[in-house]
Amino acid sequence: MLEGCPDRLDLVIFGGNGDLSMRKLLPALYICHRDENLPAQGRIACVGRNDFDDAAFLAFVESQARPFVDDSTYDEAVWKAFLKRLHFVRVDATKPEDYARLGDWLAPDTLRIFFLATSSDLFIPICDNLAAAELILKDSRLLLEKPLGKDIASAREINAAADRYFDESRIYRIDHYLGKETVQNLMALRFGNSIFEPLWRAPTIRNVQITVSETVGVGTRGGFYDRAGALRDMVQNHLLQLLCIVAMEPPAQLDSDAVRDEKIKVLRSLSPMSLADISRWTVRGQYAAGSEQGEAVPGYLDEKGIPADSNTETFVALRAHVNTWRWANVPFFLRTGKRMPQRVSEIVINFADVPYSIFSSQAILRPNRLVISLQRNEAVKLQMMAKVPGDGMRLKPVNLDFDFNDEFTSRRADAYERLLLDLIRGRQTLFIRRDETEAAWSWVEPILRGWQQLGDRPRPYNAGTWGPAASSSLMASEGTQWAEEL
Ligand code: BG6
Repeated sequence: MLEGCPDRLDLVIFGGNGDLSMRKLLPALYICHRDENLPAQGRIACVGRNDFDDAAFLAFVESQARPFVDDSTYDEAVWKAFLKRLHFVRVDATKPEDYARLGDWLAPDTLRIFFLATSSDLFIPICDNLAAAELILKDSRLLLEKPLGKDIASAREINAAADRYFDESRIYRIDHYLGKETVQNLMALRFGNSIFEPLWRAPTIRNVQITVSETVGVGTRGGFYDRAGALRDMVQNHLLQLLCIVAMEPPAQLDSDAVRDEKIKVLRSLSPMSLADISRWTVRGQYAAGSEQGEAVPGYLDEKGIPADSNTETFVALRAHVNTWRWANVPFFLRTGKRMPQRVSEIVINFADVPYSIFSSQAILRPNRLVISLQRNEAVKLQMMAKVPGDGMRLKPVNLDFDFNDEFTSRRADAYERLLLDLIRGRQTLFIRRDETEAAWSWVEPILRGWQQLGDRPRPYNAGTWGPAASSSLMASEGTQWAEEL
């Protein structure tokens, strides 16, 4: 068992038979169990409204969660032993009287962790009902899934409700991007190497691009997604967290508060967007029918659970500014979308042109770029100019390449594995603090309101493309291009 793990644990997952639980949480917990990182006396209650008996629930897990366990890690005997930890407890989260059933299941003298993997509308009733049923003990912990609320007011209400019953040191707000190995590597790249630091600023850096593109559509999550949209679902959390790690000052140490103190300074330095900025510097898109990897796929409006006149964006591109000495006048371009041609999470740091070229006018100089690929191909590439062998002085961009898969052959933990273990061990560095969520909403909310005021519909883009043409125009107006356009 890992250092810091409690001897006895009751992990209660609200939304326990939902999509996240089946696709991510149970497969990740299986690996933690397989690697003997869970307490021997560790039980998991999946809480939901269904009327499962134990056998029906286990059959459900077998059909819904088992396919998400990678074959290379699956072992039938270990899986069976893992299933013994699982129990289904029928609770309608909104019904106070149902919590007695959960009370009967919970053991005394055991660390209780309540993992809220439901829609955030239920976070407050769940906290209130847990408290009313006296199920929260002095050391119990609360985990809140993202997105936390739908705007600043709802985020504050949720935070206030959580704060009534749990100390901040026992509240874990998750953003699974922070659990990704490659995202943590970004910290290593920035703060474990001295060569980048003097260059990591204006005017050496001309702009930064952060792209998180997905090939999938909304799938079975239409009901949730249509109320959220790409700005709430991805930008408010994952993309802003990546921006924070790129833009933050070196923390004094690697403890949870030192790192989070630096991230929050970045969020608070984001330049607020006026209506004119929103109209000029943001692009919303919605995918129309198209093709993905050669297969025809429907448009967003034809997906299950999506109203035919939905105004929800499945794509966002925007330009942000961090108002600090380090980043003055350096645009940060953020972009995310569903149904794009490739699954990519990538940070591109574009450096400035050489101040003066000594080469002939035929020699085209490209500015240096540092490309940090977080997924699919985890790699760091530094693009520089080299002389082509032969007569004369012909130059060509070449890459200094570092591929994580070549260097590290061991299996990389999934983000949820890492975060669940940190949660169980009480480590908060990779979780979001209350002020961080509120600061992120404070910057994002005016954009949501601005879009409403402007009343524009999202621009259509065909599935399998890089978003509406306006996204390229946004870059062109800054004299730059998205990485794949170069
Ligand atoms: C989730 C979003 O937080 O992140 C999803 O709600 C999105 O819409 C997912 O698909 C992407 O995560 P990953 O780890 O697959 O990049």
